[in-house]
Amino acid sequence: MGTTKVKTDATFGYLKAMGNRQGPHALASEFVASSLAKWFGLTVPEFALFDLTADACFDLPRGARTQPGPAFVSRHTPGRTWQGSATELRDLENPTDITRLMVFDTWVRNCDRHPPDLATRKPNYANVYLADTDRPGRSRLLAIDHTHCFDAGRDLSERLSDIAKVKDEATYGLFPAFEPFIDTGELHWCMSLLRSVTRELVDAVVARIPSRWEVDPRAAVALAAQIHGRAAFIADRINSGWPARTAAGSHEPATEGG
Ligand SMILES: Nc1ncnc2c1ncn2[C@@H]1O[C@H](COP(=O)(O)OP(=O)(O)OP(=O)(O)O)[C@@H](O)[C@H]1O
Ligand SMILES: [Mg+2]
Repeated sequence: MGTTKVKTDATFGYLKAMGNRQGPHALASEFVASSLAKWFGLTVPEFALFDLTADACFDLPRGARTQPGPAFVSRHTPGRTWQGSATELRDLENPTDITRLMVFDTWVRNCDRHPPDLATRKPNYANVYLADTDRPGRSRLLAIDHTHCFDAGRDLSERLSDIAKVKDEATYGLFPAFEPFIDTGELHWCMSLLRSVTRELVDAVVARIPSRWEVDPRAAVALAAQIHGRAAFIADRINSGWPARTAAGSHEPATEGG
């Protein structure tokens, strides 16, 4: 992706620009999924779109170069990436966000934290970010890096709304070390949130993708259909006991209603 730490007039930020080797649709994925993560109540670094001008372009590794146009920038948040231990998770001030992050990754089909199929992709601990807090030794779980959501980093196309994608039953984002932290009450809360996702809400998020990133209108419609369809699908799955005991720890399935 060529993510680059840059100095702004206010702070440091992480810039993902056009010209990156994954293409502009990775930026659309980042922007849409980060917006959804924020809506879902996860902590995400403050982010914005930024117009990279021609005179500010710079070389990226392996012969690539940024191109002028809308870029995604997130504010530097002091902290560190997860090393994979349970101890680090016990020290979180927001441990229920472990459950929420796993539900979110499954909703948006994010294969770039813990992928469903380890034969095709390795877990990426560097996309689980532990931000420093005011309390020594305590950190806060943040959701970062959403360039590989919806269709595993492929270009966004009409195929996004294929039934196999909308009803993809794979579990994303469930690191084995997360399993003891999967919380029934939080699953229930996520189910309610997912049930409240309207097509209007999703369309409004998708409509903010800059035209320069060249997501064609049919792909944008399919993207919105996938996000909206999966919200209901995942809510139903939670109601049916997902993630099953075989996949997760010893929690009980969430029940809907009273
Ligand atoms: N807002 C932020 N605050 C602090 N650190 C960040 C922030 N954004 C990114 N980072 C750091 O930079 C690293 C790379 O960023 P990120 O994971 O978003 O992109 P990437 O891995 O280069 O992208 P891709 O997986 O699409 O190639 C992260 O693992 C993290 O260490
Ligand atoms: Mg990353």
